[in-house]
Amino acid sequence: MKKIAVFVGTRPEGIKMAPVIAALRQAPDLEPIVVSTGQHREMLQQVVDLFQITVDHDLAVMQPNQTLASLTARLMTRIDELLDRIEPDMALVQGDTTTVLVASLACFYRRIPIGHVEAGLRTGNIWSPFPEEVNRRLASPLVTLHFPPTEFGRANLLKEGVADKQIRVTGNTVIDALQMEVQRQQDPQIKAKIDQALAEEVGRDWDQVPYVLVTGHRRENFGQGFEQICDALADLADRFPDHRFIYPVHLNPQVQAPVQARLGDRRNIKLITPRDYRTFVALMSRCRLVLTDSGGVQEEAPGLGKPVLVMRDTTERPEGVEAGTVQLVGADRARIVEAASELLTDRASYDAMAEAVNPYGDGQAAERILDRIREHFAELVAGASNASP
Ligand code: UD1
Ligand code: UDP
Repeated sequence: MKKIAVFVGTRPEGIKMAPVIAALRQAPDLEPIVVSTGQHREMLQQVVDLFQITVDHDLAVMQPNQTLASLTARLMTRIDELLDRIEPDMALVQGDTTTVLVASLACFYRRIPIGHVEAGLRTGNIWSPFPEEVNRRLASPLVTLHFPPTEFGRANLLKEGVADKQIRVTGNTVIDALQMEVQRQQDPQIKAKIDQALAEEVGRDWDQVPYVLVTGHRRENFGQGFEQICDALADLADRFPDHRFIYPVHLNPQVQAPVQARLGDRRNIKLITPRDYRTFVALMSRCRLVLTDSGGVQEEAPGLGKPVLVMRDTTERPEGVEAGTVQLVGADRARIVEAASELLTDRASYDAMAEAVNPYGDGQAAERILDRIREHFAELVAGASNASP
C-alpha cells in the first residue's frame, strides 16, 4: 500500500482535490493521507463538509489578514514536522497557492516525489495573477508527475524543459467535481433544499428574477482594482434595476472592506457570505451572466452555458476565451459596464457567448491521475529490477 499525502489549503484546492481523494479512498493499493494546511478556515470547511472529506491532519495555519511571508513561514515548519511523522511515498498538490509552493518545497527537501494537479497554467506575467504565476512556476521544477488539464499546460511545461514522460494531460478535476455535484442536484430532496437556499440568497421570486452572479478576490485587484469593480457593479445596478446582482463576498478583509463600504446599501445588490459549493453551483446554473476574477469559476461557468466576463487583464485559461464563452474585461469600470450591458440587452451577443462548451475536461481527470501514479510506482519497481544484477 503506497501512502499518498494529499495537500489542500484553500477552497478551490478542496473542491478540485475532492474527486481525487474520493478515488484514492476507493483504491485498494493507494492510501490517501489528507492534509489540510488550513490556509483557509471557514471556506475550506464548507468544502470538507459538503464532500465529506476526512481530514487526517489539520495544520490550522490561517491567521486573519495573513501576509504571504508569514503564511509561508508557518506552512514550512508545520508541513516539515508532519512529513517527518507520516513519511508518505508521494505527495499531491493542486494549483498555485502558497500551500502548493511550500508543500512542494518541503517535500522536495525530503526527496518525496510530488504529483502536481492542474500543472502548467501560465500567463507569462509574474504580476498577474500575483503571486500565483510565480508559485506555479517555482513549483514545476520540484515536481515528478505533472497533470496539466489541457494541451496548453503540456506545451508550457515542455517549453520550460519538463520531459514529456513526466506529463499526463488529464482534464481538470474541477469538471469531475462539477459533474458530481450537478448529478447530486437531480435528487428531489437535495433539489428542494437548493430551491430553499435560492429563495434565501436571491429572493422569494428567485425563479423569475434575472440575476448576475459576481465573485472577486485576486490580490492584484486589491485597492484601485476593487474600487473599479465595485463602481462598475453600482453603475450596472442603476442601469438594470430589474436585475439583481448576487455577490458572495470572499472573507479576505482586503476584499470585504471595499465591497461592504461601496456596495453595502444598494437595493438590488445582495452581498452574501461565501456559499457552499452546492449552493454556488445552483446559483451559477440559474444566473444570466457571471462577473468574476476567479480561476475555478472561469472553468465551471462555460460548462453550464453561462457567459463569463473575467475582471482581469490576463488569463492562464485561454481555452474559454477561444471557445467564445469567456471575455477578458480587466478590473476596469468602463469596460465591465460596457461588456455586461451589451450582454444584458443584446440577445444575439448573449446567445453567441452562452453556448455550453467544456474545454476543461470530461469528468474522468481523477481516474487518469491515479492511473499515472500507479504507472509511476510500477516504473520504480521495474527500474529496481532492471538495476539488479
Ligand atoms: C488564496 C490563494 C489564491 C486562491 C484563493 C482562493 C495564495 C497566495 N492565494 O487567496 O490563489 O485563488 O485563496 O480563494 O495562496 N479568510 C478567512 N476565512 C477563510 C479564508 C480566508 O477569514 O476561510 C481571510 C483571512 O483573513 C486570511 C485572508 O482571508 O488571512 C487571506 O487568505 P489567503 O489564503 O492568504 O489568501 P486568499 O486571498 O484567500
Ligand atoms: N465557490 C464556492 N462558493 C462561493 C464562491 C465560489 O463554492 O461562494 C467555488 C467556485 O464554484 C469555484 C471555487 O469556489 O469552484 C473558486 O474559488 P476561488 O474563486 O476562491 O479561487 P480560484 O479558483 O480563483 O483560485
